[in-house]
Amino acid sequence: RSAPLVLGIETSCDETGIGIVRGDTLLANAIASSMDEHARYGGVVPEVAARAHVEALRPTLDRALADAGVAYDDLDAIAVTSGPGLSGALMVGVSAAKALAISLDKPLYAVNHLVGHVGADVLRTGDEHDPIEFPTVALLVSGGHTSLLLARDLVSDVELLGETIDDAAGEAFDKVARVLGLPYPGGPQIDRVAASGNPKAIRFPRGLTLPKDMAKHRYDFSFSGLKTAVARWVERAQDAGEEVPVADVAASFREAVADVLIGKAIAACRDTGVPRLLLGGGVVANARVRELAVERAAAAGIELRIPPLSLCTDNGAMIAALGAQLIMAGYKPSGVGFGADSTLPV
Ligand code: KG4
Ligand code: ZN
Repeated sequence: RSAPLVLGIETSCDETGIGIVRGDTLLANAIASSMDEHARYGGVVPEVAARAHVEALRPTLDRALADAGVAYDDLDAIAVTSGPGLSGALMVGVSAAKALAISLDKPLYAVNHLVGHVGADVLRTGDEHDPIEFPTVALLVSGGHTSLLLARDLVSDVELLGETIDDAAGEAFDKVARVLGLPYPGGPQIDRVAASGNPKAIRFPRGLTLPKDMAKHRYDFSFSGLKTAVARWVERAQDAGEEVPVADVAASFREAVADVLIGKAIAACRDTGVPRLLLGGGVVANARVRELAVERAAAAGIELRIPPLSLCTDNGAMIAALGAQLIMAGYKPSGVGFGADSTLPV
């Protein structure tokens, strides 16, 4: 029997993603983003994102099918993100997936968005690529989530080690960019400006790394204190009539975020004895995050895996890939009785 042909639907945040895979082979990864519509608000507006999904779904579906060269009838199954994410946004994808599954009479698999990010790395994109091995630690950092996972097995044993207790890392980048007068989304802007700054110019706080916090929050993250510290620093400079050294502030802030993210991820590998680290989420685009990950993983003897960026940011292919893995592992479909769950645990 050939590997299952699966269509995956992702609408948990501001990307409408439709992916098509055959087993672990990527056939299509169509994306529509409503990012531009959120720009004037400085962050993702849930209501706007949900409405944009409704508009983008049909054309994105058509594009994915055309890219993969398959028809609806060819599909073996449909997979959809049922959570975690924005409720209204999730509901659009879940409803569309149910409608497709019922009308085409195809099995439907509800999958977890975070586990989907880990599953992205099983995909073969045509290049040389060793299969991902388990167990692995996974650090998932985007505008919507910041989570540290231990995946002993992709389909049956994924554990949440820790997550942000306030802002997501990408959200912190976007908020600090605003403080510095940079446009949304702020992550790429800060990254660009930071390249010419001194990361040691200002020592910004590393959230939840003090000994008293580490006992309870060893693998958790906090970025709201850092964001406030940057805002205060900039305000003080402005009040004093000084010119704000934007590049130095951006570089010092980026350093604080990258240091905590990679520091805790490497600690999780060490503590669990798992010598593998997978990165996922849009913040993986960050030059300093990548650089520190490469340096510290090499120093600790940890195998680092960074999927291509198109599979790191939110996408439907990773959801299809996880659906295919569930099918190949013999899992039963979810039926159509499940709902969107904004806080779905892994
Ligand atoms: O995974 P993603 O595309 O999906 C959502 O969260 O919707 O991540 C987007 C986030 C944004 O917060 C953006 O500012 C951040 O990832 N980001 C970056 C960089 N590129 C994107 N953050 C830091 N450095 C970057 N180069
Ligand atoms: Zn995501």
